[in-house]
Amino acid sequence: MEKELYDQIFENNKKWIASQKDLNENFFEELAKGQKPEILYIGCSDSRVTAEDMTGVQPGEMFVLRNVANLVPNNDNSSASVVEYAIKHLEVKRIIVCGHYYCGGIKAAMEAQDLGILNPWLRNIRDVYRIHKDELNAIEDETKKYNRLVELNVIEQCVNVIKMAVFQKSYLKKGGPSIHAWVFDVHTGELIDLDIDFHEKLEGIREIYDLGTDK
Ligand code: CO
Repeated sequence: MEKELYDQIFENNKKWIASQKDLNENFFEELAKGQKPEILYIGCSDSRVTAEDMTGVQPGEMFVLRNVANLVPNNDNSSASVVEYAIKHLEVKRIIVCGHYYCGGIKAAMEAQDLGILNPWLRNIRDVYRIHKDELNAIEDETKKYNRLVELNVIEQCVNVIKMAVFQKSYLKKGGPSIHAWVFDVHTGELIDLDIDFHEKLEGIREIYDLGTDK
């Protein structure tokens, strides 16, 4: 009988330990001392979008949050805690929000269907659609519209990070962390930087989301 993937995992783990020790025999002793990652990565839970593999980062180099459709909702304690910890305590230099084309979460939010407990989560994506309704409705090709919503969702999640007090405090004091909007193309394996100007984004919404953190 063929082995299940699950049964392979502990064997894989042993091989991985050996290969890490081959490269550096003190690898785990050094890892146990603590973490000082420079990057916070927020991406989708999709099994095809493997944050560490596609970026080539090593253990200790990237703080990671993955959830359905890479969201940073305004009242979500999980993503808020990750961002707070990353900025305030780890003092990351960069925050990346990475979406991906062919995202099931985005697709579901474009359809007229009741998905139970997923509804409020996916409503965050419907809100992104509403904000950009004119641009999206003008796109006739369904795949292009879907891809554009993936991109706009990433940008709006970057804006959600900018809205947070912990970000605004750090930005006004140190000018960072910088915020990057990426998309992973499942078809080609390519990472695409949407090249957003987060300084401009912050200035554009500051009037509304100013928390007086400069006082
Ligand atoms: Co996805």
